[in-house]
Amino acid sequence: MTDSPSATGSILITDIGLLSTQTERGDIEDAAFVIEGGRIAWVGAQSSAPSADTRWSASSRCVIPGFVDSHAHLVFAGERSTEFAARMAGQSYSAGGIASTVSATRAASDEALQRNVAALVAELLRSGVTTFEIKSGYGLTVHDEQRSLRIASDFTPETTYLGAHVVPAEFRDDPGGYVDLVTGDMLDSCREHARWVDVFCDRGAFDGDQARAILSAGIEAGLLPRVHANQLQHGSGVQLAVEMDAASADHCTYLDDADIDALANSQTVATVLPGAEFSTRSPYPDARRMLDAGVTMAIATDCNPGSSFTTSMPWCVAMAVREMHMTPAEAVTAATLGGARALRRDDVGRITQGTRADFIVLDAPSPIYLAYRPGVNVIGEVWRNGELVEANSNSSSGGVG
Ligand code: NIG
Ligand code: FE
Repeated sequence: MTDSPSATGSILITDIGLLSTQTERGDIEDAAFVIEGGRIAWVGAQSSAPSADTRWSASSRCVIPGFVDSHAHLVFAGERSTEFAARMAGQSYSAGGIASTVSATRAASDEALQRNVAALVAELLRSGVTTFEIKSGYGLTVHDEQRSLRIASDFTPETTYLGAHVVPAEFRDDPGGYVDLVTGDMLDSCREHARWVDVFCDRGAFDGDQARAILSAGIEAGLLPRVHANQLQHGSGVQLAVEMDAASADHCTYLDDADIDALANSQTVATVLPGAEFSTRSPYPDARRMLDAGVTMAIATDCNPGSSFTTSMPWCVAMAVREMHMTPAEAVTAATLGGARALRRDDVGRITQGTRADFIVLDAPSPIYLAYRPGVNVIGEVWRNGELVEANSNSSSGGVG
């Protein structure tokens, strides 16, 4: 039995078999670090660790930064398991399925939506995610987009206005009118609750010109751009993301050489979402090709009821390794530092002096185990802002050393 580490005062995390810093220092064996005021105050070799008010032993396990999930659609009601089963029986995925979640979301109370988000956030934390983004996009009215973002902002500062997820049924004959709403009244109501603006630029959603107008209006309103790009077919989404200096182009399933070149010469992160290809039985993006070209990459869950109903970053890491040809080390970087870059954050995704004390103690000697033991829970402890927030009861216990 061990005591809980104190929330006040400094804590020395000791006996770290392997520390993956995600900085130029790389991995440190037999490492230790000090937490003070929720931040990392010192990192180094266990043998030269300073003293602190409390000690907490990692019991020779591996420590990595908390995962940063830069792409999630958590505000929704209902579920679409039947649609998933139909796809597994051969039906193809289309953006049109979004409509059924929109109906369920509009009909749900604020409390029901809040409870759903809280449950998914709890799942994310258990999977080691300590920073996450939440998009709107299942309301598609001024009222429902605004309340989606209000609810999301109770859980994270990384909120994204996705009024341009799809054209809702009532605007079927007037898509231009819907773009006017998204760039007008809806944006005015949503801007104060959002940090980001996103658009689904793809077949069955919005074309390049519409997407440019939507992102430009968002930027004009003080939001920062990110794009759902090239998921269902090759299109102009990735080029548009780079042109607008979007923080991230997400999906990146269908890319040509010019897209990869543009990404490699930009600040735009390519975010891959293995859950989406898995659940829609689609070809996986070629992460190897992007990495070899020098593109900065992130891995995210894309958690949503239609195309990727997972909150498991360890599973996403395993899939990116197996199906997208990332090395385990590249995948762990993409799920931590890469996610932070996709949110333009430098206070998370790394373990170094000054960053937030957000980290995972793996029940494993190295991060390779995230892919090497697929489907097995190797998340031993999750720490956020210097506090232990999740401890796996099966884990080899850490504790006061
Ligand atoms: O990221 N691509 C667009 N949006 C979601 C899917 C939404 C849905 O099918 O409900 C995605 O995969
Ligand atoms: Fe998405």
